[in-house]
Amino acid sequence: MKKHERFQLKDLEDLREKINALGLNIPVSDNLGILAKPVKAGDRIIPNALSVHPMEGCDGTAGGEPAELTYRRYRRFASGGAGLLWIEATAAAHEGRANPRQLYLCRQNKDAFAKLFDTISGTAASEFGPNHKIYTIVQLTHSGRYSKPEGDPAPIIATRNPYLGRNLPEDYPVIDDDQLERLEDCFVEAAVLAGEIGFDAVDIKACHGYLNSELLSAYTRDGKYGGSFENRTRFLINIVDKIKDRLGDAIDITLRLNAYDAVPYPYGWGVDRENYRKPDLSEPVRLLKILKDKGIKMVNISCGNPYYNPHIGRPFDAGPYIPPEHPLEGVARMLNIIRTIQQSVPGMVVISTGFSWLRHLSPFVAAGGMEEGWFRIAGFGRQAFAYPQFARDIFEKGKLDAKKCCIACGKCSEIMRDGGKAGCVIRDAKVYVPIYRAGREGKPPIQSNRLADHV
Ligand SMILES: Cc1cc2nc3c(=O)[nH]c(=O)nc-3n(C[C@H](O)[C@H](O)[C@H](O)COP(=O)(O)O)c2cc1C
Repeated sequence: MKKHERFQLKDLEDLREKINALGLNIPVSDNLGILAKPVKAGDRIIPNALSVHPMEGCDGTAGGEPAELTYRRYRRFASGGAGLLWIEATAAAHEGRANPRQLYLCRQNKDAFAKLFDTISGTAASEFGPNHKIYTIVQLTHSGRYSKPEGDPAPIIATRNPYLGRNLPEDYPVIDDDQLERLEDCFVEAAVLAGEIGFDAVDIKACHGYLNSELLSAYTRDGKYGGSFENRTRFLINIVDKIKDRLGDAIDITLRLNAYDAVPYPYGWGVDRENYRKPDLSEPVRLLKILKDKGIKMVNISCGNPYYNPHIGRPFDAGPYIPPEHPLEGVARMLNIIRTIQQSVPGMVVISTGFSWLRHLSPFVAAGGMEEGWFRIAGFGRQAFAYPQFARDIFEKGKLDAKKCCIACGKCSEIMRDGGKAGCVIRDAKVYVPIYRAGREGKPPIQSNRLADHV
């Protein structure tokens, strides 16, 4: 059986040695001061170069309002010092909710989202003073084939995909063009609400295999949303154009974009047509250039599909299978993709992903990438669940406490798969161990010895 090497790096020297031993290209630097510098995105200033990534807690009300644990999470994030808070996947339509507690931004929930906004900006201002204007983005989503609005799978698919649709009958219906056009308007309505509340930006989520991400690779789909590049990007671009028509520059538009699905062509986006193990970033770059010309100033890059090949987007030590590569190779792949994007579209602020596996060494890679111009903001996902004060410790203490770091154990994802409220089982144990245990009761262990079906 293939052996997986778990994280065992103590310091920067260990990290440098491992990077060299694996023959990887990962920049490192101990100039952590660079992470504290404000970042300009158009005419907006983000107070520093660290971001909390969108991390779904699955803890809203049945109607889609934030609830107790949601407010708790965002208070913790806002007091943690990151200059950019990218709020989690928030449905733009009820049928596209990924679980019955996913947040849902609609007119009847506006007041609750306004309270969330006030919680975030109020907490940040009281911790860091009125000049620390934390930049807030709401990630708008439709979960597509992963929709479960009432708790049971209720997939809405853009194409038939033999890799991602193994449990669906061959004649499972595909969402039609009229329905997609109506959904565009749901995103616009949600963006209008986000603007009325005062959030700085919306993200038209286009990653991880959800509806908008799936459309980007809808090569085999007929009609105006499938086939050509223009058709596959139509949904996203229509939403952007419609928001601009309604709101002008009153709210920023951003996106979280998969640059590389790691699913074979013609079912994956950003992949080499002959060898899907190799990224081909020509279409993602082409799309971003078009979006830049439409005034989009910021993109958060991710890769892979959490249900299908999670090692691609969130390098881990423990998960549903033994990672088929050293996690540091996953980190390197992600960062090199991000570098290509940033260097190809220099006018955009690119936010990077994939640091949490690096634990207390993550700030050095974030600083190295920033120094070399690979990206302008470093985003942290699982690390933020485990260690919401990560940015503050980097700025104030010049380091992270290894004992508070995420250990990439996969338990936050397990909770999600079990239908629970997600958080860090290891570092926020009082709240999340009981939730984790309740979800696992009677279920087989997820952590297994199996190799990936597909790499
Ligand atoms: C429990 C959990 C929830 C997540 N929720 C979201 C989400 O709502 N939106 C999103 O774009 N990515 C989501 N992600 C992905 C993370 O934002 C991030 O891309 C990933 O964890 C890799 O970054 P990291 O190494 O810093 O954790 C989620 C990941 C996990 C583990």
